[in-house]
Amino acid sequence: MKKYILLIILVSLTLLFTVCSPSKKAAAKVKKSTYESDIATLIMINCTPCHIPSKGGFKKAFDNYESAKTNIDEMIKRIELNPTDKGFMPFKKTVKLSDSTINAFKKWRDDGLLEK
Ligand code: HEC
Repeated sequence: MKKYILLIILVSLTLLFTVCSPSKKAAAKVKKSTYESDIATLIMINCTPCHIPSKGGFKKAFDNYESAKTNIDEMIKRIELNPTDKGFMPFKKTVKLSDSTINAFKKWRDDGLLEK
């Protein structure tokens, strides 16, 4: 009898793994981030006006794909600093960007810095 119970447990576990694994494949298909659909707006909201020339900003411009792409490492480095650290961005803010915003910048980098 014990053997059967063990067998049933084994079979159920196997089934469970088979049923659960497709969701992992689905996760791998998550859309890649692009500058136009994921990053441009975040920059417009969080780095304005200083880095947006059309809004009167006179710091390095991030309102275009090429510049955002070239500066992404420095951008991530600075938004990951703490507000009391020298060089923290957004400049003069007392709180960091939300984790999800910071992660969006990182995901864009990790996805290969696509434009659209
Ligand atoms: C209130 C104005 C202001 C805002 C908002 C702001 N910055 Fe800045 N940023 C500055 C100033 C001033 C400097 C130059 C001083 C320095 O390098 O620390 C700078 C410099 C930088 C640099 C270095 C540029 C270089 O010349 O190498 C990066 C990268 C940067 N900011 C990223 C960001 C990002 C990303 C955001 C939005 C999440 C942001 N900043 C928001 C004012 C701002």
